Amino acid sequence: MAATAEHSTTGTSAPAYYVSTPIYYVNDRPHLGHAYTTVAGDVLTRWHRQRGEKVWYLTGTDEHGQKIMRTAEANGVSPQEWCDKLVEEAWKPLWEHLEIANDDFIRTTEERHTARVQEFVQDLYDKGEIYKGGYSGPYCVGCEEFKLPSELLDGATEDEKLCAVHKRPVEWLEEENYFFRLSAYGPKLLEFYAANPGFIQPASARNEVLRFVEQDLKDLSISRSTFNWGVPLPWDEKHVLYVWVDALQNYITAAGYGSDPERFAELWPASVHLVGKDILRFHAVIWPAMLMAAGLPLPKRVVANGWLMVGGEKMSKSNLTGIAPTDLTSHFGVDAYRYYFLRAIPFGTDGSFSWEDFTARYTSELANDFGNLASRVAAMVGKYFGGELPASAAHGDAEQAIADGLRTAVETADQKIGEELDFAGGLAAIFEFVKQVNGYLTEQEPWKVAKDESAEGRARLATILYTAAEALRGTAVLLNPVMPSTAEKLWDSLGAAEGLGALAAQTVATVGDWGRLPAGATVTKGEILFPRLEEKPAS
Ligand code: MSP
Repeated sequence: MAATAEHSTTGTSAPAYYVSTPIYYVNDRPHLGHAYTTVAGDVLTRWHRQRGEKVWYLTGTDEHGQKIMRTAEANGVSPQEWCDKLVEEAWKPLWEHLEIANDDFIRTTEERHTARVQEFVQDLYDKGEIYKGGYSGPYCVGCEEFKLPSELLDGATEDEKLCAVHKRPVEWLEEENYFFRLSAYGPKLLEFYAANPGFIQPASARNEVLRFVEQDLKDLSISRSTFNWGVPLPWDEKHVLYVWVDALQNYITAAGYGSDPERFAELWPASVHLVGKDILRFHAVIWPAMLMAAGLPLPKRVVANGWLMVGGEKMSKSNLTGIAPTDLTSHFGVDAYRYYFLRAIPFGTDGSFSWEDFTARYTSELANDFGNLASRVAAMVGKYFGGELPASAAHGDAEQAIADGLRTAVETADQKIGEELDFAGGLAAIFEFVKQVNGYLTEQEPWKVAKDESAEGRARLATILYTAAEALRGTAVLLNPVMPSTAEKLWDSLGAAEGLGALAAQTVATVGDWGRLPAGATVTKGEILFPRLEEKPAS
């Protein structure tokens, strides 16, 4: 976790922009699918930080339930030992490696979580929202979810039914459970969705939820008594809380619910819950109903991302490509990794990863279009002006077109990334601008202008190189949330810090103001931003 005091910009009582990822099951190590959502959340929060907003980014791990318990048993350790090991050895280090700047990391086995969860469910119980009953039905341990018969696939025998997500047999569970009166919330939920059309995104996800809630909702079984790896119900300790009801509350327990009212008022309701489309109903139906029952405000948005696919199936622990996130980062680098998935797959739709596609985008977009532009401009300022950025002598139409291009890129990227979570669209706009700057240099041919040593020739050359460097200044700021290390290298190479301060201090509001990079800045060639790729490692 790369959280630092500098990132935790909360502290006064105005609402913060609060983004969450799902909390991940720690039965195994993180894979590309998990990293996909976590990087997206990181880019979103960094974008909002760059707007100068107070931001809070939460991720964490989901550690209770049968799936984790069975995995620990199979490995001959206690569930707690298993979770501790995986969190410390696999999950936190990956987020650090990917430069995820989360402000907190919640684990559902922490006391700060379990104690608040018990208070929350006790409150619902006291309000009559929870009652005791019996339930029997097919259960998928992979999803930790009771299934409806209509959702199942046929298995190998007549009696066997398979979970449609995991393609593994479901189990028949029959227990005395406590139930949450979810069925009472159908009309209130529909009313809420109608009054808040942006609550569930994208539209396909919203439609799916509407169709589901329009049918009669069933009460939700919220406890288990056949195993004990979970949060005990405070009024009946023979039962542990259903893992999903426990897990969903991480979004409030981490934000200070029941422990720090001031912080909670500042953070809650969350601005965006990022979720995979498979866990949409939990977040868009069950979670809001629980919050309504508790009398708490509902999150502002639930945004579902699609799946990374492999061989036409959701990438999962059982059908991995065999490629871990670190296999890709050691070949392409962390920043290119952060860029690639968001650029290549429209957020909200499924997408396939391919080594060839990643290589093609790396080479054409990152290395050729962007990296070469940065190194060529730095090299020319070095060669023709001794590394001191000249002032623009005459800002003509061609230069104004670049200034306008920057402003358009800023406005489009701000709307698409910051508001719509259309990362691919936002990045396309930024790279459109990079292309425009390349086109400008091709047209202006500074290497030919440099041969003209007259005062006019020098002035023209100064204008062209200032324009290109100033365009790069804007690009560094726009790409900072997506590729922070690369943007920092570019900032250094432009010598921008001297006149403009740290890259982290730049804002979306001013990035489009033309002429911010002061003439006289010390431009240096710096490191190659996207080095030529090594041979693909043998698989
Ligand atoms: N623990 C629950 C979430 C509780 S949130 C209160 C859970 N964990 S999970 O580890 O199984 O999955 C977490 C997230 O990873 C889900 O949003 C899921 O959609 C996402 N992904 C898992 N495989 C994925 C892909 N192949 N592609 C994209 N996201 C995927 O569910």
